[in-house]
Amino acid sequence: MARNRNVSSASRRSFLGLSAAASTAIMLRVMTEPMLATAARHKPRSQEGVLIDANENPLGPCASAREAVIAIAPQGGRYLDGLTDDLVKQLSQIEGLKSEYVRVYPGSSNPLHHAVCAFTSANRSYVTADPGYEAGMMAASTLNVKVVKVPLAKDYAHDVRAMIAAAPDAGAFYVCNPNNPTGTVTSHADIEYLVENKPKGSIVLVDEAYIHFSDATPVVDLVRADKDVLVLRTFSKLFGMAGLRCGALLGRPDLIEKVENFGGWNFMPITGLVAASASLKDAHLVPERKRINAGIRSSVFAWLDRNGYSYIPSQSNCFMLDTKRPGKEVIDAMAIQNVHIGRIWPIWPTHVRITVGTAPEMEQFQAALKKVMTGAVTASVTPPRSPSRQRMDGLLKRV
Ligand SMILES: Cc1ncc(COP(=O)(O)O)c(C=O)c1O
Repeated sequence: MARNRNVSSASRRSFLGLSAAASTAIMLRVMTEPMLATAARHKPRSQEGVLIDANENPLGPCASAREAVIAIAPQGGRYLDGLTDDLVKQLSQIEGLKSEYVRVYPGSSNPLHHAVCAFTSANRSYVTADPGYEAGMMAASTLNVKVVKVPLAKDYAHDVRAMIAAAPDAGAFYVCNPNNPTGTVTSHADIEYLVENKPKGSIVLVDEAYIHFSDATPVVDLVRADKDVLVLRTFSKLFGMAGLRCGALLGRPDLIEKVENFGGWNFMPITGLVAASASLKDAHLVPERKRINAGIRSSVFAWLDRNGYSYIPSQSNCFMLDTKRPGKEVIDAMAIQNVHIGRIWPIWPTHVRITVGTAPEMEQFQAALKKVMTGAVTASVTPPRSPSRQRMDGLLKRV
């Protein structure tokens, strides 16, 4: 099992290696969290360690989703496209939208990438928070679209007024709510302000990948009101289905059509469809998992407080830890102890992203962190980067 994982990590890393000749095809390369997490690692993570570097959900799919996957497996030789329609109908009913406002995808990375393709261009910039989730920035950058990065406000919400002021030529404003990597929330009122005051012809792309963990107010009402808003949802986070792949795009049909010009509305993995459908039928799932995540997160925060370590309070399944030293050193010293924590963002080189794992995993995290912060464990030698990894570094430096 561990060997399989390493093989697939290796192939993903080589996939990230970009030749000059391939640069025109880069727009087809959809960047995803596992690719970004892999790119930040110096070597493949093992299967056995504490894996809190890619905002995964250690609980995996709920029981009814697992049963649905097993039950559908014998029909794996069929496309069963009716299942896509069923899930669209189910989601539409839950969100109070007509079904033409809803599309499902194998995860939300594709519609994110395709929305950037559809609404930005050489003279319509991509505007995002800093630090913010990099996938959209990388899509824009590889399309030679200007990326405008606007620092988060003092309360770590998106600074929507500064975002509008920074880009009169904007094509798309990306708002991740709660934000990846900080787990901080932007108010509905601020998103509405952005929608009402953005430049004509632009859209607001609200990524609600982590919304179920938080008390943030979703903005599906703005979709219902036919505003220039696209909402991304995924089953990869609270629903624990990152490996099963299912996500959704909510928006006005004319906006969806523009996104679909770049891809989508293709056959879905039937396992992802039935698992998503079963998860949505479980009325207890969201509150139960929100409670579990919040409980573990607050006990980690209490431990950090007791030990005098700084962090940014989060409402999500990840948070930023202030390492007060180059974050890379801490990442490497934690990895020596087989605790794999997330990456740094260039604007905050002394912060690292930590995913909230299970309670025992976070106890291991705490024990390892204490050894690093007290100097009992250090990692001074960073292994040299392979040529393909150096090219990925170069791509990341462009945004
Ligand atoms: C903010 C955000 N958006 C979108 C995604 C894409 O996830 P997926 O393609 O698994 O739905 C991620 C993954 O971590 C994410 O953090």
